[in-house]
Amino acid sequence: MELKYHTGFGSYFESESENGVLPEGRNSPQQPPKGLYPEQLSGSAFTMKRSENLRSWLYRGQPSVVQSPFKPYGQKYWKSILPETGQTAPTPIRWLPFTRWTTGNFVDGVRTMVANNTNEGSAVHLYGFDQSMKNTFFYNADGELMFVPVEGELLVKTELGRLTVAPLEIAVIPRGVKFTVEPLKPHIKCHGYLGENLGAPLRLPDLGPIGANGLANPRDFQYPVAFSEMKNEACSLICKYQDRLWVAELDHSPLDVVAWHGNYAPYKYDLTRFNTIGTISFDHPDPSIFTVLTSPSAIPGRANMDFVIFPPRWLVGENTFRPPYYHRNVMNECMGLIQGVYDAKKEGFLPGGMSLHNCMVPHGPDAETFQNELKRSEKPVKVDQTMAFMFESSLHYSVSSFALEEASLDHDYWKCWQGLKRLHL
Ligand SMILES: [Fe+2]
Repeated sequence: MELKYHTGFGSYFESESENGVLPEGRNSPQQPPKGLYPEQLSGSAFTMKRSENLRSWLYRGQPSVVQSPFKPYGQKYWKSILPETGQTAPTPIRWLPFTRWTTGNFVDGVRTMVANNTNEGSAVHLYGFDQSMKNTFFYNADGELMFVPVEGELLVKTELGRLTVAPLEIAVIPRGVKFTVEPLKPHIKCHGYLGENLGAPLRLPDLGPIGANGLANPRDFQYPVAFSEMKNEACSLICKYQDRLWVAELDHSPLDVVAWHGNYAPYKYDLTRFNTIGTISFDHPDPSIFTVLTSPSAIPGRANMDFVIFPPRWLVGENTFRPPYYHRNVMNECMGLIQGVYDAKKEGFLPGGMSLHNCMVPHGPDAETFQNELKRSEKPVKVDQTMAFMFESSLHYSVSSFALEEASLDHDYWKCWQGLKRLHL
């Protein structure tokens, strides 16, 4: 499916599925020329400074108040705030890919793996489904969602238009935006990672001395064009609010937005367009050079959640240790793999798997990778056909009961370093 997109990260877009719907010139946003209900969707407080102010005006068939009261919806596996039970040991933790997905739709197929303990933090889930949501729609009042597909191309229909999302692409659905997601091809198995950011909305990182270009470039972010679905049928709207799921009934599709303008909208990004920066002399820069998007906290430079990738790249550093170095970090790192092999772990870290290294938990290349590094030549080497990523948080990630009891915990992960021999002077 070839869809059209607007481009430019966080730009102010105007989008119409029919000409002449948007108010022009001196017309108030509340008086669109062809009628329809205007509704503002705010992603920031009204009084946020201009550079951080997020809102869109939606022109729709019926405003969002036309719906029944919400009732609880049973989905026990999706929890984005996990209590600090003290049960998550300061040990490196790794999971093999989860494969026991049953047939079903997106909302019922979300499984929380790890989460912070605050309504302003983040969580990392897995998703797996093979069915359309049919006449069921969803929005998340708790935060924004990032789809990171591993298998199966997605069709995401939102209030502001449609996106397709393939493996090696990501899509971010802002807080509050209603959507439905289905396999692009009917009944194809889709699975991947779902990041949930409850804090400040994701934005591009500052570039400092790198300059105006590099890393993820704004023009590569794609936003949907308006597309409305005027469907008068019984529909359900599931909402995630205060870490619980709720369901309301409507007699029409909530995707009835004919036109919109604003800077608050879903977007997608092709990870293969990331302009990777690295050393061309010696040493090993910190992985912050691979940051795609960041959710800042109140402390400058200390992210609530970063999304970082490890894409194909040339390793050319001389007189240095080229793999990721051994480290202990104040930040909390949850890693996944979309395809290929991660250059610090040749075995055991598989596409769809996950690892967790919380604050000050030591980690780094396994014994085999270290031995191979000692034997290598100084020739440039291409790390290719790979795409690992990391959600990194300044807040501790607790592990869910699903991750401990039902997911494929790799009990032998710690052994990958035990072959590292003592080095003597
Ligand atoms: Fe790390």
